[in-house]
Amino acid sequence: MTRFTLNGKQVSSELPDDTPLLWALRDDLKLTGTKFGCGMGLCGACTVHMNGAPIRSCSTPLSAAAGARITTIEGVGTERAGKAVQAAWQKLDVVQCGYCQSGQIMSATALLASNPKPSDADIDAAMSGNICRCATYVRIRAAIHEAAKALA
Ligand code: FES
Ligand code: FES
Repeated sequence: MTRFTLNGKQVSSELPDDTPLLWALRDDLKLTGTKFGCGMGLCGACTVHMNGAPIRSCSTPLSAAAGARITTIEGVGTERAGKAVQAAWQKLDVVQCGYCQSGQIMSATALLASNPKPSDADIDAAMSGNICRCATYVRIRAAIHEAAKALA
């Protein structure tokens, strides 16, 4: 059994240790906001925070979450930075189909936690692993600047 903190609550999963964390979140713990894209750590759709840092849950084994603090898109809005990022996303109407956006928001929130005033280059570097097939990149960058302003 793997126990960890999920969006502020203690949870456990009895799935095998080597199950991807993404499956535990979606299928076992029923939080489906985190998406499956490539399954190989290449697209960023499955991004969650582990102890505040962005990780790819498709390629992180459940065992790695033992004792950790995991935050998903369902919980990130309760944190100041996550709330500001979600508000900026809404204000600038970032989303198109939406499939990649949970991962985008998780990466953007982690960026602002470590770099409260990112440049365009900082944003491009931090977000380069999050692919958007709808090419919302220009709005994502603008929304990150907007959230940074709101948090200043
Ligand atoms: S689904 Fe995890 S990086 Fe693509
Ligand atoms: S909004 Fe459609 S893939 Fe990003």
